[in-house]
Order: sequence, then C-alpha cells, then structure tokens
Amino acid sequence: MKISVIGCGYLGAVHAASMAEIGHEVVGIDVDDAKIASLAKAEAPFFEPGFEELLERTLATGRLRFSTDFADAAGSAVHFVCVGTPQKRGEYAADMRYVQGAVESLLDVLSPGELVVGKSTVPVGTAAQLADLIADKAPGALLAWNPEFLREGFAVQDTLHPDRLVYGLPAGADGDTARALLDEVYAPIVERGTPKVESDYATAEMVKTAANSFLATKISFINAMAELCEATGADVKLLADAIGFDDRIGRKFLNAGLGFGGGCLPKDIRAFMARAGELGADQALTFLREVDNINMRRRIRMVELAREVCDGSLLGKRVAVLGAAFKPDSDDIRDSPALNVAAQLQLQGAVVRVTDPAAIENSRRQWPQLDYAATPEEAAERADAVLVLTEWKQYRELDPEAFGRVVKQKRVLDGRNALDREAWTAAGWTYRALGRRAG
Ligand code: UDX
Repeated sequence: MKISVIGCGYLGAVHAASMAEIGHEVVGIDVDDAKIASLAKAEAPFFEPGFEELLERTLATGRLRFSTDFADAAGSAVHFVCVGTPQKRGEYAADMRYVQGAVESLLDVLSPGELVVGKSTVPVGTAAQLADLIADKAPGALLAWNPEFLREGFAVQDTLHPDRLVYGLPAGADGDTARALLDEVYAPIVERGTPKVESDYATAEMVKTAANSFLATKISFINAMAELCEATGADVKLLADAIGFDDRIGRKFLNAGLGFGGGCLPKDIRAFMARAGELGADQALTFLREVDNINMRRRIRMVELAREVCDGSLLGKRVAVLGAAFKPDSDDIRDSPALNVAAQLQLQGAVVRVTDPAAIENSRRQWPQLDYAATPEEAAERADAVLVLTEWKQYRELDPEAFGRVVKQKRVLDGRNALDREAWTAAGWTYRALGRRAG
C-alpha cells in the first residue's frame, strides 16, 4: 500500500520505517528540514535501540523516503498523523496546533476513498471534530483513530509487535471501509492474532490517556508507599515484590524511586485533567492531581536526601549525577526527573557533574550551566556523593569496589532502587534510597 506518515518524531519516524519493513511504500513528511535530511541519510535524529538498523534496511529497499513537502502525501491510500501534542505553556491542556495543522495541510491532497489515521495522543473529542472538517473539505475521505502505545527504548519492537490494536472507527459503511484499510496496513500483525479492539472515536482516544493515567497512578501508588516506608522503616522494594505476586496487581510498573518523567505520562495526565474539566467531569480525575503531586515530591525528597548525606549542606559539595535521560536506553530529557534533581542541587550550591551514556548533548542544550562528564568515573572524581538517577545497565553494573577509589566520600544515593545494596555496602559505601532504610 502507499502510505504517508505526517510528523517524523519518535512515533512517526519509527512508524514510517516499520510500515516500510512490513512491505508498504511509505513517505515520511515533516516540516523540520534537518530531521528529514538526517532520516533520509539513515541517521536517527534520536537514540532508539534498533531504529537506525531498521532505517538503513528499509531505505535500501527503496520503499521508504522522506520529504518536507506535503504534496508528496498525495496518492497515498492511508495517511498517518503522528505529530506531537505537547503541554501548552502555562496550562495543563494539550497544544493541538500541530494536529490541526497536519490535518488542514492534508485536506489539499486528500482524495475520496483515502483514510486519515490519527495516532497522536489527543483530548477526547478531537477525532469527531476532525472528521467533520474532513467531511466538509475533502468529502469521501475518511478518518480513523488508532492510538499508539510504544515505549521509548522499545519503539521498534512495540510498533512491529504491539500487544493490541485499537481502531476508533466511523459508524456504518464508512467504518467497514476504514477497518478494511487498517487491516490491510497491519496485515501481518492482524494475522498473527494480535488482540483488536474496535470502537467509536471517543473510546479509542480515551484508551490512550486512560492507559497512561493508569501507569502513572501505579508508579505514584508505589511512591506513596515509599513515603510511608520512609516514615516507618519498612522497605518499599520488598513491599512491591510481595504485592506484585498477586497477579491482579502485578509487579510491573511498581518500581519506586524518582518517579515518572518523559514526553508522555506527565503531559498526558495533565491534558486528561484539563479535558475532564472542559467536559464538566473534573471530579472524576482529581485523583490525577495527587498522582502528579506524589510524583513531583519524589524529586524534592531526593534533593533533601542528598543534603542529608552531605552533612546537612550542599554548599560547595561535589555531587556526581549518573543519568540524565528520563529513562535508560533513551536520550530523551523531556521532563527528566534526573536532570530536574541535578539542576536543583546546582541551584542549592552543589558542584554538580552529570554523566549519561546518550543524553549529554541534549542535556547540555537545556542546562548549559551544569557540568558534564563522559564517564561515571570522571563525573565522580573526588565526589562527596554519587546519585544514580537513571538506571542505565552501565550504572547498575558498576563495580562498587573500584568505583569507591574515585570518590572522596563513599556515599551513594540510589534514585531508582536499581543497585545491589549489599554489594555497595560491603564495599564500604553508605547506601541510601527512596523508600528503603539506610544501608
Ligand atoms: C509511556 C507508556 O509506557 C507508553 O505506552 C506510551 O505510549 C508513552 O508513554 P515512555 O514514556 O516511553 O512510555 O516510558 P515508560 O517506560 O512508560 O516510563 C515512563 C516513566 O516512568 C519513566 O520516567 C520511568 O523511569 C518511570 N517508571 C516506570 C517508574 O518510575 N517506575 C516504574 O516502575 C516504571
């Protein structure tokens, strides 16, 4: 099939290459010249395991190309809208200008029988409004909503092997046409028996925000338990293991620590609250405000803990921060808890050196006033405290014995409950973590 993908960020670029991988002829379109130029050269504009190989492979087949010209979307049977919906400045609501802009630009190239497929995370009600716009300005073209659940770090795997497909379809015969087109696009995924949920637009839009709200709530739940553990001397890691054995609860997403960040969970729960308010249903989501509060408190607590281990004052103390990305296997620093803590420490007088295997360049652009080091050893040289704030494999596997020879004081703060506490304490380190007793 001929497919266009509008918006070549994390979602769109991976989607475009994945659609070419399963045999379609794909054009990826974005307004950012630099991004399109690098994608066309098979250079990934972001760090994502396996993506560059996929890009190289699919570009070589001739089935994938990139363009900054919307006219190149003409003639595609299906047009995926994958542009961002960031948080509006100074508001909780999502900024819809890119989605609106993408669909308006498509109106000029759409022909009857073609299908526009929204993948961006949008406030519920958006699809219905866009469907009206399409019906008015490009009669005969259709709209479906098909949310995407990919995780950064697993984007390729999640796109090619999703755990479910969700189709938000128009009513009646149009719905049948849209379903048939989507089934053709996703043929290998559908044929393998991947669960499929077909619904109206509103449900499909809500599946995404509800899923992200649930995940955020699960993380904040365990972080709230961590606060209680800190007050009682209990151990949040053991607590999570024990409750996680109940398969109604499950152990996944119960890792207590610095909490969630990134380009999705924080802004999605806020946009969901804002939309509920507009719909007069704000009470239904007031709990998400608490989820957000618990999450943000963890960052403050981490700074306090650092001050505590530095004998009550951060002034002039050398602090090494291991990890800047919002999670491992990513160079994404959007709303990164790690960088947020690093910046707060610096503002409170500490001399902070940050390291990260992939995110230093991005971090430097956002926080040029922080000091950066290429390796953990360099970052930790003569440090008064080491904070592990993103659980990269490299940091989990540090040898506490050898690493201890680099620092001035053997004090480690495990912001992700990811280190082997026994090994670190055995090597003479003072070990502190959120929600666990000092080791
Ligand atoms: C998330 C959703 O998982 C994905 O389905 C959606 O499409 C986009 O948003 P992503 O932002 O890539 O994906 O990251 P995710 O793996 O969900 O982690 C989000 C944040 O939660 C990270 O900062 C991570 O460190 C944190 N987290 C995760 C925890 O603090 N504890 C956990 O147990 C799990």
